[in-house]
Amino acid sequence: MIYEIYPRSFADGNGDGTGDLLGVRERLPHLRDLGIDAIWFTPWYVSPLADGGYDVADYRAIDPAFGTLEEAEILIAEARALGIRTIVDVVPNHISDRHAWFQAALAAGPGSAERSRFWFHPGRGPAGDDMPTRWVSNFGGTTWTRTTNADGSPGEWYLHLFAAEQPDLNWDHPDVRREFEDVLAFWFDRGAAGIRIDSAALLIKDPTLPEVPAEPGPGQHPNTDRDEIHDVYRGWRAVADSYDDAKALVGELWIPDLERFARYLRPDELHTAFNFDFLTRPWDGPTLRASIDLTLAAHAPVDAPPTWLLSNHDVTRPVTRYGRDDSSFAFPAKRWNVPTDPALGQRRARAAALLVAALPGSLYIYQGDELGLDEVEDLPRDRIQDPMHFRSGGIDPGRDGCRVPLPWSGERSPFGFSPADAVAEPWLPQPARWAALTAEAQAADPASMLSLYRSALAIRRAEPDFLGGGFAWLDSGPEVLAFRRGDGLVSITNLGQVPVDPPAGGELLLASGGLVDGRLAADASGWWRIANPGGEVR
Ligand code: GLC
Repeated sequence: MIYEIYPRSFADGNGDGTGDLLGVRERLPHLRDLGIDAIWFTPWYVSPLADGGYDVADYRAIDPAFGTLEEAEILIAEARALGIRTIVDVVPNHISDRHAWFQAALAAGPGSAERSRFWFHPGRGPAGDDMPTRWVSNFGGTTWTRTTNADGSPGEWYLHLFAAEQPDLNWDHPDVRREFEDVLAFWFDRGAAGIRIDSAALLIKDPTLPEVPAEPGPGQHPNTDRDEIHDVYRGWRAVADSYDDAKALVGELWIPDLERFARYLRPDELHTAFNFDFLTRPWDGPTLRASIDLTLAAHAPVDAPPTWLLSNHDVTRPVTRYGRDDSSFAFPAKRWNVPTDPALGQRRARAAALLVAALPGSLYIYQGDELGLDEVEDLPRDRIQDPMHFRSGGIDPGRDGCRVPLPWSGERSPFGFSPADAVAEPWLPQPARWAALTAEAQAADPASMLSLYRSALAIRRAEPDFLGGGFAWLDSGPEVLAFRRGDGLVSITNLGQVPVDPPAGGELLLASGGLVDGRLAADASGWWRIANPGGEVR
């Protein structure tokens, strides 16, 4: 079980309103009590924060707002002493425009060796004022920004698949390959047990810079999932395998074709990758069942563990999403003021938590989901920092709503996020309603989301059938996801309206909601231990 920490918003140790490594160190007992195996830290490096830290200016230094490199090493060791490993986030597709390489490239001018590490290109048309391609940025808008020459005249354009402050690196350049293998080793040498690879499918570009075809075939997209990319990850795997202790490579791969996705998980490439297929699907029995089947089928031939996650720092919080009429997730669909039913969302998020915790493979939990936090959708517009918001012209609320600083204790903001004598307010405002959702309040309540997560993770850890047992669907109606793990465990999730009978003779281990006359209610999950394997579930 891997827990994702977005350091800016987890816990603020020094009272400046921004989360930091001291805050994480102070809250390690929360993570130990939750029963996690590893932490994935989103970028903690020096960054101008044009994209919440995914614009890295120095991959070998901690941002002073978070702490120091020495403190990161202490944190890694302290977590390890509690049985918790550390996964760091490496961003290979692009760097910050403040990074020394890009500054040198701008200064050196067209045709320079410094520029060849990026995608600088003259514009089209006689004056070069038409950008080289019409590719669309992952944050909306164009993917090219024009530079200005030393004499003030308009210069070359450079490529950025995200914001203009995130120039793309040229992965055909040996310096780039060497540099990142070195960055990997830098963090492995400091005790990191794994690397989360940002935007892992985007690194290689077609150097002829064609337009994106209407329906690109496999490997035909000019900037996504190109076949040459696997060579990069074979090199990374060799770095990981050169260590005596296990080092994991985890890919962020937004690739709809699960067969193409699984190619990254071949034995000499990445160990595992985020399952966004499941994450994006709505709360609907047949649809989720299809995703589970596709996921297991895609991972089997490469013998890699599937992953299950309900959210991360980029997507809408589950309790908000699952309370909506359309509970699927898609970046382009994000809008302000989409109604949600919080009670329904809460019930379904609880049921979903047990569902994913029962599936075979690794489980990722985004900070605050264990508290059942909702997406903060009424942030004042002048506090929003996410480039996705700005680049959509304000139509998209952006991703800050899932990045609001966590509520730990007390009755009012900062809810223990910052110490009592803090000099600044949390960097994003926390809603007053979170007084009921603090970790402190929930720890004392056996019916809380936190208690559910703690119980679920404790059972998952203790039951060999959950960790290593096989998986088999049990007969059920389409709106019920009922399956067996190993010989002894049954998990049932009821996505329909009709209560479901428990497995015959089953002993209830945990349920996400109350049982009605012993039957599993709508939008609830339960786990049972069974003595009669193969029992029918109606
Ligand atoms: C990944 C990150 C996201 C970031 C983007 C660009 O998708 O998860 O937060 O904005 O890459 O680095």
